[in-house]
Amino acid sequence: MKVFHASAALVVVLFGVLGGIHAVTLEVKEGSSTCIKAELSAVFSISYNASGSMRTVLVTLPDSATVDPGSSSCGSEISAPWLVAAFGSGHALGLSFSTNGSLYSVANLTLQYNLSDAAVFPGANSSDVVTVVSASVGIWAPVNTTYRCLSNATFRLDTADVTFSNIKLQAYMTGNDLSPNESVCFADQTPTPAPTRLPTTAPVPVPTPAGPPEQGIYNVTQNNTVCLLAQMGLQLNVTYTDQNNKTVQEVVNVNPDLTSSSGSCQAKSATLTLTQEQTTTLTFIFTLNSTSNKYYLSAVSLVANWPNMPANFSATNASVNYLRSSFGHSYMCNAEQTLVILPTFSINTFRLQVQPFGVTTTQFASAEECQIDQDQMLIPIIVGAALAGLVLIVLIAYLIGRKRSHAGYQTI
Ligand SMILES: *[C@@H]1O[C@H](CO)[C@@H](O)[C@H](O)[C@H]1NC(C)=O
Ligand SMILES: *[C@@H]1O[C@H](CO)[C@@H](O)[C@H](O)[C@H]1NC(C)=O
Ligand SMILES: *[C@@H]1O[C@H](CO)[C@@H](O)[C@H](O)[C@H]1NC(C)=O
Ligand SMILES: *[C@@H]1O[C@H](CO)[C@@H](O)[C@H](O)[C@H]1NC(C)=O
Ligand SMILES: *[C@@H]1O[C@H](CO)[C@@H](O)[C@H](O)[C@H]1NC(C)=O
Ligand SMILES: *[C@@H]1O[C@H](CO)[C@@H](O)[C@H](O)[C@H]1NC(C)=O
Ligand SMILES: *[C@@H]1O[C@H](CO)[C@@H](O)[C@H](O)[C@H]1NC(C)=O
Ligand SMILES: *[C@@H]1O[C@H](CO)[C@@H](O)[C@H](O)[C@H]1NC(C)=O
Ligand SMILES: *[C@@H]1O[C@H](CO)[C@@H](O)[C@H](O)[C@H]1NC(C)=O
Ligand SMILES: *[C@@H]1O[C@H](CO)[C@@H](O)[C@H](O)[C@H]1NC(C)=O
Ligand SMILES: *[C@@H]1O[C@H](CO)[C@@H](O)[C@H](O)[C@H]1NC(C)=O
Ligand SMILES: *[C@@H]1O[C@H](CO)[C@@H](O)[C@H](O)[C@H]1NC(C)=O
Repeated sequence: MKVFHASAALVVVLFGVLGGIHAVTLEVKEGSSTCIKAELSAVFSISYNASGSMRTVLVTLPDSATVDPGSSSCGSEISAPWLVAAFGSGHALGLSFSTNGSLYSVANLTLQYNLSDAAVFPGANSSDVVTVVSASVGIWAPVNTTYRCLSNATFRLDTADVTFSNIKLQAYMTGNDLSPNESVCFADQTPTPAPTRLPTTAPVPVPTPAGPPEQGIYNVTQNNTVCLLAQMGLQLNVTYTDQNNKTVQEVVNVNPDLTSSSGSCQAKSATLTLTQEQTTTLTFIFTLNSTSNKYYLSAVSLVANWPNMPANFSATNASVNYLRSSFGHSYMCNAEQTLVILPTFSINTFRLQVQPFGVTTTQFASAEECQIDQDQMLIPIIVGAALAGLVLIVLIAYLIGRKRSHAGYQTI
């Protein structure tokens, strides 16, 4: 029997495409020759039952993911080649392959997640290890070529959505490196993806709640230590189709009193999830670029189930780039700022300050302020300078006037 040696090279591949999250490199070997190699980024949106409600969490495939030597294999007469990347506490992503001699494809895609992991699934009312599968994911390429897909592609696996981006992979390899001949996926060939087309009927505006939202304090604690600090007022602007097929645009303030925060912190990725009364789950993922030592908001997801929604509204964009700041500092923006996530979903932030990395005390580190704040700071300075100038002119005019009238008295 052959002894399979599976190993993972953990390489954070730096790429600037869409400001996306980092890719993880995974390799399955038999002896010293590589049979499957994959570089990819993956975000999982997983729904689970928490006490009395359904919650959704957003999990990124971390760079600590390693090929599981027990399950992964280069395949044999009776088994298919299988790449299994294990991460965290009992979670795993699996890709199994098949070929007909001229083409190879991903035969099935599996995601295993461990609901006992309270850091990822807070309040789960089950402790099961769940496995979901999707066959026919449509990832295929000619043998001896590398499958490449930089665009994001989402696959529905029962209770989870798997979104891949920046994929480069090859199975049935004959050398140890990815083939330079690339088979580019359809999504990458189209020049620009058409934006989600909205229904042509004019949206019915729903009255905006009076005033800006209240500022909430949302921090994340891991291992009894606060690892992410956040305070902000949030307003969600969502466009959806209601029960009567009308397009509704709703602007809703997040109420801090009804909202709980959770999340997790890793070296290069931090997650903040806000849950308001089982009807709204908002997730932010921050990514640290260790080359530039800058972090930014890289992914946002919203799952909402509001009174007029016929089904859950779900919106995810794993390639945003907002709230940029430097490691060791917090990001601050007191002025209103709009984060456009999708054509149907944007977030207005108010009095925001966040620090997703390098939290060493319970206080924010010194802040880097957004441009709007810096510009607004200039206004009082300009007004102040103008006032000071005016005062000076009046004073000079007064002194001149006084001198003149004084001189007048002396001539008498
Ligand atoms: C990280 O920063 C470096 C330098 O600014 C840049 O070249 C690189 O593309 C960035 N990586 C990512 C993943 O954004
Ligand atoms: C939640 O629990 C209900 C009832 O047990 C079950 O039907 C449903 O599939 C569960 N949902 C998830 C996401 O596990
Ligand atoms: C878990 O929650 C779901 C609904 O949220 C409920 O239907 C189910 O019975 C619960 N399961 C357990 C084991 O409590
Ligand atoms: C998916 O592929 C793996 C590896 O070939 C196999 O063990 C598993 O049974 C497959 N699952 C399904 C549902 O086809
Ligand atoms: C699931 O998570 C729990 C808690 O983190 C851990 O004790 C358990 O070993 C994990 N299960 C697997 C299969 O890894
Ligand atoms: C492999 O499958 C493709 C697509 O189904 C087909 O066009 C091709 O002829 C097949 N090749 C062989 C050798 O069967
Ligand atoms: C793939 O490359 C190997 C080695 O270069 C060669 O033996 C094999 O015939 C090639 N297969 C195809 C389908 O081109
Ligand atoms: C991929 O990202 C683009 C731009 O951020 C977004 O509009 C689109 O909905 C995403 N597609 C998928 C399948 O997630
Ligand atoms: C929690 O802290 C303990 C002791 O400092 C450490 O051994 C453990 O790895 C930490 N766990 C996590 C998830 O950071
Ligand atoms: C909500 O979004 C729509 C469409 O993007 C925009 O026209 C509208 O001004 C936004 N409303 C608020 C209060 O931000
Ligand atoms: C809503 O519109 C779609 C397509 O325009 C139509 O197929 C559907 O029947 C409509 N549903 C209702 C409840 O009117
Ligand atoms: C974190 O948030 C909780 C609840 O919102 C609060 O009780 C706690 O004091 C906060 N901790 C810090 C360090 O801000």
